[in-house]
Amino acid sequence: MILLLFGPPGAGKGTQSAFLIEKRSMAHISTGNLFRANIKNETELGLKAKSFMDAGDLVPDSVTVGMVESELESLKGASVIFDGFPRTVPQAEAFDELLTKMSLKIDHAIFVEVPSEMLVERLSGRRMTADGKHVYHVTFNPPKQEGICDVTGEELIQRKDDSEEVISNRLEAYEKSTAPLKDYYESKGVLKSIDGTGEPEEVFGRIEAILGS
Ligand code: AP5
Repeated sequence: MILLLFGPPGAGKGTQSAFLIEKRSMAHISTGNLFRANIKNETELGLKAKSFMDAGDLVPDSVTVGMVESELESLKGASVIFDGFPRTVPQAEAFDELLTKMSLKIDHAIFVEVPSEMLVERLSGRRMTADGKHVYHVTFNPPKQEGICDVTGEELIQRKDDSEEVISNRLEAYEKSTAPLKDYYESKGVLKSIDGTGEPEEVFGRIEAILGS
């Protein structure tokens, strides 16, 4: 199964991906996490992505699509969640070509809808492990011990691009470049919109209802 999760920054894509990984053993491609790992390891790709991410801008399509292609090839036929990719219409077009080449297709493109006034609060209170795999919120989903991951015991970090100034740029980039994907996937007949508010488990129930058993 090829499942896309898209929506504005802070909609809960990473949080819902964690449920899908745990409950459905799906593989996960998060372009944000991949870029952050490359930045941490000081790779050439990380160097290219860093200035864009720090400013809250999108990384150029050519860099992003190439990275996804090699990642998908390494997963060889697994069910995959795409979290935060595609993020522009040109990325979506390039992705369609790639999937056709690999004899794959998108099963569902789930758009997670959250009112913009909630997004800043969600993002500014977010804390996570350095690899982005375990995500918390200081109020909505606090760890048992402040600042420490319940699962790995490591110290939680606050993402550099979760400052209010950068958040507003990310929201602008989303409106300009990513929101048009709703029409793109509607025209392909794979768009499903869900309400991303309420408890994370409730939101997951809405995704489960789409995926079926
Ligand atoms: P990326 O890492 O993908 O960030 P994003 O899309 O901005 O999304 P976030 O990770 O911020 O939010 P999320 O929806 O995953 O929410 P989460 O579950 O964490 O991208 C970062 C940057 O990388 C981009 O700005 C760009 O520069 C670059 N990039 C990445 N992909 C790219 C691409 N394809 N093309 C070009 N550039 C790209 O939840 C947020 C908070 O809310 C958490 O604290 C969580 O605990 C809380 N929360 C979650 N659900 C709920 C709920 N139901 N109720 C209350 N709180 C909740």
